[in-house]
Amino acid sequence: MKAAVVTAYGLVPRYLDFPDPQPSNEHEIVVEVLAAGLHPRVRMQAGGSHYTSVGAGLPLVPGIDGVGRAADGQLWYFMSLNSRYGSMAERAVIDTRHSVVLPVHTDPLTMAATLNCVIASWLALTQRVTMRPGQNVLVLGATGGTGSMAVQVARQLGAGQVVAVGRDISRLAALSGATAIARISDSETIARIGSETDIVLDFLWGDPATEVMAALVAGRADPTRPMAWMNLGEMAGARATLPASALRSRRLRIVGSGQGSLTGATMTAEIPAVAALISNGTYNVEPCPVPLHDIERAWSLPADSSRRIVISQL
Ligand SMILES: NC(=O)c1ccc[n+]([C@@H]2O[C@H](COP(=O)([O-])OP(=O)(O)OC[C@H]3O[C@@H](n4cnc5c(N)ncnc54)[C@H](OP(=O)(O)O)[C@@H]3O)[C@@H](O)[C@H]2O)c1
Repeated sequence: MKAAVVTAYGLVPRYLDFPDPQPSNEHEIVVEVLAAGLHPRVRMQAGGSHYTSVGAGLPLVPGIDGVGRAADGQLWYFMSLNSRYGSMAERAVIDTRHSVVLPVHTDPLTMAATLNCVIASWLALTQRVTMRPGQNVLVLGATGGTGSMAVQVARQLGAGQVVAVGRDISRLAALSGATAIARISDSETIARIGSETDIVLDFLWGDPATEVMAALVAGRADPTRPMAWMNLGEMAGARATLPASALRSRRLRIVGSGQGSLTGATMTAEIPAVAALISNGTYNVEPCPVPLHDIERAWSLPADSSRRIVISQL
């Protein structure tokens, strides 16, 4: 079959022949892949920099999820937890225990663009910290695909205030669901509007995490009010400097949410609910379709967090 193939970490994937993946047990089936999102996590996989890359082996087909059609015509959303055979190929073997059948009217491109973006905060707020209705959430990196969905997910799950923080004020102002917005660099505003934050959803880490944590610690109305800092991504850096005093002087807890801290079964169990909300239009990340044979062009398109590149075979 044809596939996007990574032959060396750091090189752009190329459209090459690759052996067809074979089912290895009764839970696995072959699907024709229709759409696969080019998420930041996929770039990390292809670059060998994601924490799941250790021992993955090359060559590999990138892609962590997608929408495919089985031989019986059913449409599936699937996660590719096999780090060697990803979803950016003509065909994929899917584990039906980590996949869900989609309604026939589903738009594969929108589903492939949106589900990964929504499930991130959905799992974080339902499985990793269990947000109670009325709690206040701050989203760091709120203008991205996952961040903008996190603002909406927090509201839908019953958050009180949802503070959206990012580096582009005009894009922050256009977000739906935010009760307040602030630039990362505006520590004074963050300290004020975030003084009663209960949960931070952090998609950036790096220097923004250091800066925003310092502002929230400084502005805390009640130092004993618990605050959970939930890391989900590292768009601004894999390392952050955190002052020890922040941990002693405030009731601050640092946790994370992602593959490994959640089991495949936990993640799969939440997919039907999220897929249904995408199907009915509640959540929508705009897809930017690029054909599989144009994978090198897809990889080199300029970064644009307002829409998601989707490798399309429709
Ligand atoms: N743990 C999970 O379950 C999970 C699931 C999905 C995604 N993620 C992770 O979440 C992160 C964000 O993914 P995404 O899909 O939202 O990506 P995206 O759509 O490309 O958006 C990237 C976001 O990061 C911001 N950003 C990039 N570099 C920055 C910097 N140096 N300083 C400040 N802001 C910066 C962008 O700001 P602009 O809008 O101003 O460009 C935008 O808000 C990634 O690390 C991804 O791997 C985690």
